[in-house]
Amino acid sequence: TEPLRLGIAGLGTVGGGLVRLLDAHGDRLALRTGRRIEIAAVCARDKTKDRGLGHALDGVRWHDDAVALARDAQVDVLVELIGGNGVAKDAVEAALSLGKPVVTANKALLAHDGLALARAAERAGVALNFEAAVAGGIPVVKALREGFAGNRINALFGILNGTSNYILTSMAATGASFESALAEAQALGYAEADPSFDVDGVDAAHKLSLLASLAFAAPVDFSAVYVEGIRRITALDISFAHELGFRIKILGIARATDHGLEVRVHPAMVPEGTALAHVDGVYNGVVIEGDFVDQMVFEGRGAGAGPTASAVMADIVDIALGLKLPLYGVPVDRLGQIAMASIDRR
Ligand code: HSE
Repeated sequence: TEPLRLGIAGLGTVGGGLVRLLDAHGDRLALRTGRRIEIAAVCARDKTKDRGLGHALDGVRWHDDAVALARDAQVDVLVELIGGNGVAKDAVEAALSLGKPVVTANKALLAHDGLALARAAERAGVALNFEAAVAGGIPVVKALREGFAGNRINALFGILNGTSNYILTSMAATGASFESALAEAQALGYAEADPSFDVDGVDAAHKLSLLASLAFAAPVDFSAVYVEGIRRITALDISFAHELGFRIKILGIARATDHGLEVRVHPAMVPEGTALAHVDGVYNGVVIEGDFVDQMVFEGRGAGAGPTASAVMADIVDIALGLKLPLYGVPVDRLGQIAMASIDRR
């Protein structure tokens, strides 16, 4: 069988993690999928930088430009790990228009342009997979798309940003200042290029709009999400909450109500006896309530090279196996129908 040839756009934290993962598990993955997964080409801003990847990229072609990478005839799958809504979007569109499947970790792109890109992927008849865009290594997209398919989902909520949870946890545990905790999270490779996205709740809102779209099979407009970050939380707030039996967490909450979907991100007092109260540090936690399966809790690392690369590879493996599911779990022309029907019947 022919190998599956990847074009990796972006060699930052996640891209580097993916190269290492493939280096470590190439044989195992070939046995699993029946095809060798190879890196055909990459693109990154700085060619000379030492990324500590050893010989893993020997013989791999370099491009200056992500669109050129997407168009490279040797590239079967675009793996978009640049982030943001600029060149990343152009590259994803270029790949889809050529009928190439795409794997992306880009929540900002999908929160804004997911619907149009889902349409483009459907037209092309290829997968656009984004497990790594939400909650790092936790396979919550796959859970919603497949595992919960038999349920009406009543609510979904959780801790969706590793950096802000890391900051709140450090402030609580060691009395660290907001600034020093943020600097640590940045040094560990958890934070966004623009860390205000982490601390102002924007990154969590991007992820929540994607999860809500999947959970309710309806396009959730990112601009409709209420967003409040953690800048105003003080160490004193945290210790008062503690004395009262609560932890302060920034939560994303999506709920089906009689008036439609309610989607919001804000700091909340979480009772000590609940699962989310003990999701600390860079961990994310997601609680999903399905009518038949009842409540389920997912917890795992929400950011960082290894966990995020793990999610990217899971999406690549799906493509190697020929699996292709609609971006939001249902084809675009049926989005909105199920959610409205289930709200009507409550
Ligand atoms: N900056 C994000 C976080 C990375 O801290 O959760 C993972 O999306």
